[in-house]
Formats: sequence, structure tokens, C-alpha cells
Amino acid sequence: MAFPVRPIPYDRPMKLDRLYNTADFREAARRRLPAPMFNYIDGGADDEWTLKRNTAAFDDYEITPGQLNDISAVDTGIELFGRKLDWPVFLAPTAMTRLFHHEGERAAARAADATGTLYSVSTLATTSMEDIASATPGPKMFQVYIFRDRGLTAEFVERAKASGYDALCLTVDTPVQGNRERDLKTGMTIPPRFSLKSALSFAAHPHWALTTGFGGFELENVSHGGGGLSGKTMSLLQYIHTQFDSTLTWKDAEWLREHWDGPFVIKGLQSAADVARAAQLGADAVMISNHGGRQLDSAPAPVDGIAAAVEAADGRLDVICDGGIRRGKHAVIALALGAKACSVGRPYLYGLAAAGEAGATRALTRLKEEVTRTLALMGKQNIAGLSSGDVQRL
Ligand SMILES: Cc1cc2nc3c(=O)[nH]c(=O)nc-3n(C[C@H](O)[C@H](O)[C@H](O)COP(=O)(O)O)c2cc1C
Repeated sequence: MAFPVRPIPYDRPMKLDRLYNTADFREAARRRLPAPMFNYIDGGADDEWTLKRNTAAFDDYEITPGQLNDISAVDTGIELFGRKLDWPVFLAPTAMTRLFHHEGERAAARAADATGTLYSVSTLATTSMEDIASATPGPKMFQVYIFRDRGLTAEFVERAKASGYDALCLTVDTPVQGNRERDLKTGMTIPPRFSLKSALSFAAHPHWALTTGFGGFELENVSHGGGGLSGKTMSLLQYIHTQFDSTLTWKDAEWLREHWDGPFVIKGLQSAADVARAAQLGADAVMISNHGGRQLDSAPAPVDGIAAAVEAADGRLDVICDGGIRRGKHAVIALALGAKACSVGRPYLYGLAAAGEAGATRALTRLKEEVTRTLALMGKQNIAGLSSGDVQRL
């Protein structure tokens, strides 16, 4: 006799050992999350040309290996912002992580720590920067969005200093929000709105709904200062347009540089002229980034901007490649082209959504293993051994 009620197929515990790469984790996240949450992670702006190009651009490069080099001990370590990282890929800042798993930012920070890398905390985190700082001893960077209320920005700097953050990062590519049509179509709001449509999607994902959906959300870094949700439900677009300061100029970046005496990073630059400007104002690093294809569509892929950025920096600052990395070989190509480090957003969020801390840790561990294996297959004993001669543009 046929079973009268179809068991819910998408809510069984994940078999993590069957997930091998970022694409597997993406598929697991898709099954685990209600549509508004999955598409919020996965989507990009307008036609998603830049989103796709960020990864596709890596296919324009070949890697030529060298052989017979004793690769019995491959060292993937680097030093970044005065801290030693076990591998050269770190976690980019992502907003509202507790929408995807109830363990949220704490779990992501622990996954970063477990794999020996740095975690970046977003201004729009759903756990306070102090609580994240005390969750793990690993290296951390705080990412700043400048709010209309400048008092909040000054406060971020003081709080990041007091809680021991290693670096401060100013994101400059969000003067307005990009046009993310998937969010409009799925009715994505913060916190999740329980409309009839979303309620059906939540009902099909009871594990998420029970552990995460009914958990309550607040933007913990800004809620006390009028930047919180305070019980309101709105789209991210509405939030950004009411809270973020769209009058920002290089003067504001200078101001932040002056008030933070540790490593200072500017995230979201794409042109060589802007990289030179960042070096002039004393930034320690730039993240070549188009926000993972979520802001200006038709912006170029970060990997294609590395060489020009390194030239414009002229040794004055480090260049970080952010966006599109889905395989270890992608990170290795970026490093060979001159990047000091790389960062990933979606790859760890897919892992987190699939299975919390364990999922994020496994997604990152697999990526790390891919970096190590790629170096070994190239005949490289360490990151310093990479050079632009190892990769050719097709
Ligand atoms: C769900 C999500 C939320 C994000 N939130 C932020 C944020 O709060 N601040 C920020 O600077 N960048 C944010 N980003 C962009 C990431 O820091 C990073 O630039 C991007 O994810 C890199 O591309 P990748 O996802 O292909 O690795 C977010 C990205 C995603 C996917």
C-alpha cells in the first residue's frame, strides 16, 4: 500500500561525507532553505552576468605545472594583517547569517577557526561583534557600512578596537543596493514575512522554520542606534536606502583610516585608479570585488583585475581577490597573478545552510584540500613559489 502522506524529502540530516565540492553544498543549501533565503544567497543583480562571469573568468586561464620538485610537505600558509593563516582563502563578510542557520555567525567564525583562516564580520550581522569575537580566538576583520548616523560608524571603530579585531574593512560598492530581482520575486524580507506564499515554502522546510525561522532576528551591531529592524518587516532595498549614507566620498575613507590604527582594507574597488587612490590614503589592502555580482551588473570579474591592481599598488598595499572562487584552483590562479589572498562568500554560506558549523567546516576543508592539491600538482612547495609565469591567459 502506498504511504498516504509523502514524507518531507528535504529535511533529513545531511550526509556531509557525500558532499565534495562547492556545487554539492550549493545543491544541499537549495534543498535545505526556503526559496527566499536560498535565492538571497545565490542571486545577483539584474541579468546576473557579473555573477556568472566572476567564476567563468577563471576558465580563461590555464595552469602549467612544473615536475620533480619534492612536494612531500606543501605549506599553504600566509601572513595577513599580522596574523598567520593556514591557507590563503578567508571568509568574506556576509549579512544576516542567522537567516540561513540558527547558529549563524558564531558557527561561521568557528568554521573559519577550524580550518585556520580569518572570519570577516558584517556590519549587518545578526550576532553582535562582541559575541562573535568571544566565540573564537581566530583572526577577525570587522566590515563597516557607513550609516547616515555617523555616530554609529565612530562607535563601530571603538567597539572593534575594544573587542580585539585584527583589521577594519570599509565596503564602498553599496552606495545604493543593486537590483536583485530574485529577492523581489520570492518576496524576501528581513525578518522573513509570513505571507501565504512564504508560509508554504517554510512549511516545506520545517527544520529551517522551527530552528531558524521562528528564532527572531535583529541586526545586532546597529539595533540600539536606530539602525535595527525594531519589529518592522522590510526589504533589504528599503533598509539600505533608509540607513546607508549615499553621500560617501574618499574623504570618508580617509576619516576612517585616521581613526583606526590597525590594518585598514577597502572592499569593492575595481579600477586601477581607485587602487592607487587607496594606496595614497594609506590603506593596507584592497579587496578587488564586485560584491559577488550583487551590485553593478556588467562589472568585470575580480580575477581579471588583479594584475592591473598589483601594478597600481606598486608594493604599497596587498591585493585581495574576492568573488567567484568555487574551487581551490581558482584561488591558486588569483595568487599566481599577484593576489596576496582570496576571499569567499557563498561557498561557506552554502555549507552553513546545509548543516551549520559542520557543513561550513566541511565546505571550507574541501576547498582548502583543493588548494593544497593544486599546489602539489603544480610542483609548488608553498604560496611564495607561485608566479605569473605559472598561469597563461587563453
Ligand atoms: C548573502 C550575502 C550577503 C553579503 N553581505 C555582505 C555584507 O554585509 N557586506 C559586504 O561587504 N559584502 C557582503 N557580501 C559580499 C561578500 O562579502 C563577497 O564580496 C562576495 O560574496 C564574494 O563573492 P562569492 O560569493 O562569489 O565568493 C554578501 C554576499 C552574500 C552572498
